Amino acid sequence: LVAGIDSSTQSCKVVVRDAESGVLVRDGRAGHPEGTEVDPRAWEDALGQAVAAAGGLADVAAVSVGGQQHGLVCLDADGAVVRPALLWNDTRSADAAAALVDELGAAAWADGTGTVPVASITVSKLRWLAEHEPESARRTAAVCLPHDWLTWRLTGSTDLADLVTDRSDASGTGYFDARTGQYRRDLLAHAFGRDDVVLPRVLDPAGAIQGPGFLLAAGAGDNAAAALGLDAGDDVVVSLGTSGVVSARTRVQPADPSGTIAGFADATGAFLPLVVTLNAARVLDAAARLLRVDHSELSRLALAAPPGADGLVLVPYLEGERTPNLPEATGAVHGLTLATARPEHLARAAVEGMLSGQRVGIDALRTAGATVDAVRLIGGAARSQAVRRIAPTVFGVPVLVPAPGEYVADGAARQAAWALHGGTEPPAWPAAAAPQRHEGDETPGLADRFRDAAGRWLPR
Ligand code: XUL
Repeated sequence: LVAGIDSSTQSCKVVVRDAESGVLVRDGRAGHPEGTEVDPRAWEDALGQAVAAAGGLADVAAVSVGGQQHGLVCLDADGAVVRPALLWNDTRSADAAAALVDELGAAAWADGTGTVPVASITVSKLRWLAEHEPESARRTAAVCLPHDWLTWRLTGSTDLADLVTDRSDASGTGYFDARTGQYRRDLLAHAFGRDDVVLPRVLDPAGAIQGPGFLLAAGAGDNAAAALGLDAGDDVVVSLGTSGVVSARTRVQPADPSGTIAGFADATGAFLPLVVTLNAARVLDAAARLLRVDHSELSRLALAAPPGADGLVLVPYLEGERTPNLPEATGAVHGLTLATARPEHLARAAVEGMLSGQRVGIDALRTAGATVDAVRLIGGAARSQAVRRIAPTVFGVPVLVPAPGEYVADGAARQAAWALHGGTEPPAWPAAAAPQRHEGDETPGLADRFRDAAGRWLPR
């Protein structure tokens, strides 16, 4: 048996699968505090509870941890956590990110690491820490990511030299070059003012270390793990979770100095360019709250309004935005008239607005050379009927919705099986049921109306 773990922004999920067939044997989950700044020990507690709910690891031969990307976990020389982790969705490091780009130029970052720093990226958080909490920065002896830290805790070691990571998560730090597989310690030193911190050793995609009674695989960032769990091949994937993520596997690392595309690595040795928005599933939560309805009623209302909601447009930047890089932006509703001031129209505008935010990412990947014939739609918000049916009309291509699954945990489990059996490719586990296909004509004028409505926030 192998176990895959998904330590996400909200919870921890564990799947235990047969290492040969991939069949699900048992699973478990546990919640942990959400937010943008969280004590890593809460993730460890949730991991313990989720593992217990999944029947423990006594009969498991290999384990892999997938986790939310970018979070800054600082450890002191004794291995204790220096301060709560600053997570990918924490925007206080926006000014630090802008300063890093100003100082070295966007092209230097894009060429050197595949990614231009934004508030989410670890290197920006390190700069923020050095400037705002010099005492914490001084006590920091090692810097790692959420999944690295949990893997390390599973080893039982307190030796910082036993920290490991993988190239997918390392590629989201802003100080790792996934093409060479080397850290860019010069960039880290530039941002943090120190070059003596311990960084996790980067294992190969099928690499592993020995844990207590089981192998510990390299683990992965959640997006790379999801791509492995979904077995998405070269299809474009739109994931509508807390963040919205548009991604596609490529052989070559894109270097986009505009910062729209983050040129991350995947978990197989290739690349996984991503476009990440901060506003996805929670836009629907907010709309449901505003309308005082549950999600199924929100879906019903949205489908009762005409495509394009008669010109009512919701700009979904409720948490600021990362792509486009607008940390100060807020949401807005445009086009209110006596005819559109209706629950149905607002519900539809919320779904269309959230999806229009993802369309920006699809267009960027297309411009960068990805073929977009169809989109695979996953994540919590993809459970909504309205989202499934409206997505083709916003994206302009058919949408495939795979059976709901724990793709991140499943991808981690597949990586664990790969580490166990070796080989040049991850094990071919049988595909899940065929995805549900949704088609629909693109809504005329919607993309332009969205651009106009969001225009107040866009760079002029
Ligand atoms: C990716 C990103 C998010 C987190 C969410 O760049 O910031 O997708 O990984 O868990």
